[in-house]
Amino acid sequence: MCREPFDPFEYVGKSFKCSSTNSQAKISTAAAAVANATWRGPRFSNGKSIYQRYEIGSYLNTIAPTNCTGNVCTSGGQGSVDFAYKALLKKDAASAITNATHRDFDTIYRAVKQVFASNLQTNEVDLRDFRDAGGKMITYHGLADQSISPGGTLHYYKEVSDFIGNITSFYKYYRVPSLEHCWGGNGGQPEGLFAQLRYWVED
Ligand SMILES: *[C@@H]1O[C@H](CO)[C@@H](O)[C@H](O)[C@H]1NC(C)=O
Ligand SMILES: *[C@@H]1O[C@H](CO)[C@@H](O)[C@H](O)[C@H]1NC(C)=O
Ligand SMILES: *[C@@H]1O[C@H](CO)[C@@H](O)[C@H](O)[C@H]1NC(C)=O
Ligand SMILES: *[C@@H]1O[C@H](CO)[C@@H](O)[C@H](O)[C@H]1NC(C)=O
Repeated sequence: MCREPFDPFEYVGKSFKCSSTNSQAKISTAAAAVANATWRGPRFSNGKSIYQRYEIGSYLNTIAPTNCTGNVCTSGGQGSVDFAYKALLKKDAASAITNATHRDFDTIYRAVKQVFASNLQTNEVDLRDFRDAGGKMITYHGLADQSISPGGTLHYYKEVSDFIGNITSFYKYYRVPSLEHCWGGNGGQPEGLFAQLRYWVED
């Protein structure tokens, strides 16, 4: 993928207009670190990658929702580490995560995976029965997806290809610049997908 390198730390101290508070604010080192970590992707405490990174241009307010009052910032919502800790690791809404280490993050991640992998993880690579039954699949993923990082879809395509071999006869994958999660963004919307799939299968 071709793009300019971008270092958020070069923008620390720069003023900008915050639309939600309608006031001038300055980019903090913490904000740059959040952006940098988002573009790097989650890591275990031993440095190994957990999952693909988000692309630059994806909305950070969905990926890392943060409220700041003065110098104190909190994150929250159902995508947050705080929520995962309370709901899935401790199973106690009154519990509070304090002074968490990166190693604690590993443990919270594993708890979330145990809950969701069996019903949400779609990483089956053996699509030969689907192929042999005449199935065809067109997938696309917006590169500004602020919810599910698009690298996962490319990774899956490659894994299927590694397992089966040449998959171009039944599985196509497209990356859509600037498209957000399924719709929205500046990149335009893939259209007529079902008709295209039908032409591919029938003609
Ligand atoms: C920023 O991300 C890069 C990897 O993309 C990483 O090597 C570097 O340590 C990060 N910097 C900070 C200060 O987090
Ligand atoms: C930020 O505060 C607003 C208003 O209280 C709330 O609706 C929202 O969920 C909070 N977001 C986070 C990330 O805590
Ligand atoms: C978290 O760490 C700070 C700084 O070391 C310490 O002052 C505080 O008591 C700790 N809080 C808890 C709940 O352990
Ligand atoms: C994959 O198969 C298609 C036909 O289904 C063929 O056109 C293409 O050249 C093949 N690619 C490779 C790398 O073998």
